[in-house]
Amino acid sequence: MNWQAVDRYAKSLIKEAGHKIRISFFNKIHIDSKADPNDLVTNIDREIEQFFISRIQRDFPTHKIFGEEGFGDNIVSLDGIIWILDPIDGTMNFVHQKRNFAISLGIYAEGVGMLGYIYDVMGDDFYHAAKGEGAYFNDELLPELEPTPIHEAIVGINARWVAPNRYVNNEKIMDLITTCRGTRSYGSAAMELSYVASGRLDAYISTRLSPWDIAGGIIIAQEVGAVATNFNGDKPGLLSQEPFIVARPGLHEQILTNYIEMKK
Ligand code: IPD
Ligand code: CA
Ligand code: CA
Ligand code: CA
Repeated sequence: MNWQAVDRYAKSLIKEAGHKIRISFFNKIHIDSKADPNDLVTNIDREIEQFFISRIQRDFPTHKIFGEEGFGDNIVSLDGIIWILDPIDGTMNFVHQKRNFAISLGIYAEGVGMLGYIYDVMGDDFYHAAKGEGAYFNDELLPELEPTPIHEAIVGINARWVAPNRYVNNEKIMDLITTCRGTRSYGSAAMELSYVASGRLDAYISTRLSPWDIAGGIIIAQEVGAVATNFNGDKPGLLSQEPFIVARPGLHEQILTNYIEMKK
């Protein structure tokens, strides 16, 4: 496989999709909900996924596509080459804020992350990486991440995990948010991952993310030495929803050991 050619192709496809999303604001957007009334999806999420699929199927007919909106292949293993796509990560932001959402794409070969992309569509900021080649913010090579102590760290976390919930011991989470320097919540897991990779956040935690939320970001994060795992400390599985943490080296271990306790 000529990965440089795939990389060029994927970048131009993502930019084209970004343009389609930006001009979609000129027309009425149709909003539905999925699992619950706050789990939004729009015609644009679906159309953008279908746009990617039609192009990838035309130009890479042997590759498979694993997308959030379900128009791609039925993926049960990571065999072969798989494009793991979130056409709009941060749909709630897309609908309510018209900004702070991203296209997220990771291209995997036999389960190994080869190319990763997060495109902040309204900011026109592109985070991208090719395995072993470093990670970039637009044309700028991102530096290797250095460790940071917890009391100097800014942690990305959704306020919902501080309230009593069925996933984590929220007293420990409260301890985390009062110990760290500050918290932020952007509403797009992919953007939060790109912020960890570029040092804008020091860690990002979520109790439940899907493969398409993280597939692009973990390839980017890995290139700068960030550590991304589930709450057992294992590499994310990429076939189902899992708890997720990504952080600077050292900080990842500190947070996982001292502040995360899953409910049985
Ligand atoms: C969601 C966003 C959000 C995260 C949710 C995801 P979507 O993705 O990444 O920040 O907290 O768990 O489902 O549905 O907007 O693509
Ligand atoms: Ca969604
Ligand atoms: Ca998502
Ligand atoms: Ca999505």
